Amino acid sequence: MKNLVSLKDLSSAEIEEILSLGRDLKDKYMKGVREPIFRGATLGMIFQKQSLRTRVSFETAMIHLGGSALFMSDEIGFGKREPVNDFAHVLSQMVDLVMIRAKKHEDVLEFVKHASVPVINGLTDYCHPCQALADIFTLREVEGDLRGKKMAWVGDANNVALSVALICGKLGLRFSLAVPEAYDFSSEVYEMLSENVPDLEVEKTQDPVKAVKGATAVFTDVWVSMGQEAEEEARKAAFAPYQVNAELMAHCPDAYFMHCLPAKRGLEVTDEVMESPRSLVIQEAGNRMHAQKGVLVWLLQQVWKK
Ligand code: CP
Ligand code: NVA
Repeated sequence: MKNLVSLKDLSSAEIEEILSLGRDLKDKYMKGVREPIFRGATLGMIFQKQSLRTRVSFETAMIHLGGSALFMSDEIGFGKREPVNDFAHVLSQMVDLVMIRAKKHEDVLEFVKHASVPVINGLTDYCHPCQALADIFTLREVEGDLRGKKMAWVGDANNVALSVALICGKLGLRFSLAVPEAYDFSSEVYEMLSENVPDLEVEKTQDPVKAVKGATAVFTDVWVSMGQEAEEEARKAAFAPYQVNAELMAHCPDAYFMHCLPAKRGLEVTDEVMESPRSLVIQEAGNRMHAQKGVLVWLLQQVWKK
């Protein structure tokens, strides 16, 4: 059974297939065509954390495809009220697909073990594959072929950074990372990267200027991810030199600016960069819906044998 838990599990060809399904559906959508190709399909969405983009994009994507999505908040008790295996067995009988935004990545892995329907990771503490798919989808819209181009990540080596690194490795893009030593990927993550994307060379530095020079796109994300609130003060202090501002962007004047949103303006990024003509953040957010349609169709095709 195919799932989308981490991009490490997908081949380059599968990622290309998802992106191309999404592209085709976006082109049709822009012409006013919304074919209900999966009429009656249902997506169960479990959210243990807040969301705007992931929730709305999956819900609207399912409606456009002829199906519907069920929103389940933390109130449903995922990971708390009953064992994850019972939860997975029960839910699998009632929906065609499941999307989970979970506090612990391990809970998603456990769910997948017991589910009999495809599972999509809608963000965990470990990675955020749907975001990286939408990011590449967006950059291709404005830049075309990205092979060999440099993606610069400035800030926390977090869940989104990991998915961006993986997609760079899978699709032959370069990846530079400017991060304070204490917030770098763990050694386990570096091992996983070298096993799954052996051609990816992470160009690591503690100098944001070095990371962004020659970059086609500069990415950042919040310094305090959901669940890390207790570390807020320490993180703000450590990341202060890593703000993406006009001065930093002046070292790569042709680079696009990317942020998964929500952003904390004035911390990891300034208003000026967010509002600059090189900022793709709104297009990037909108493309969550289109790229995820690619994911939904890719997964539903196997279930419905279409
Ligand atoms: N980028 C992203 O996943 O946004 P939400 O947290 O609003 O879903
Ligand atoms: N790194 C952020 C991403 C939010 C979309 C978080 O996990 O909170």
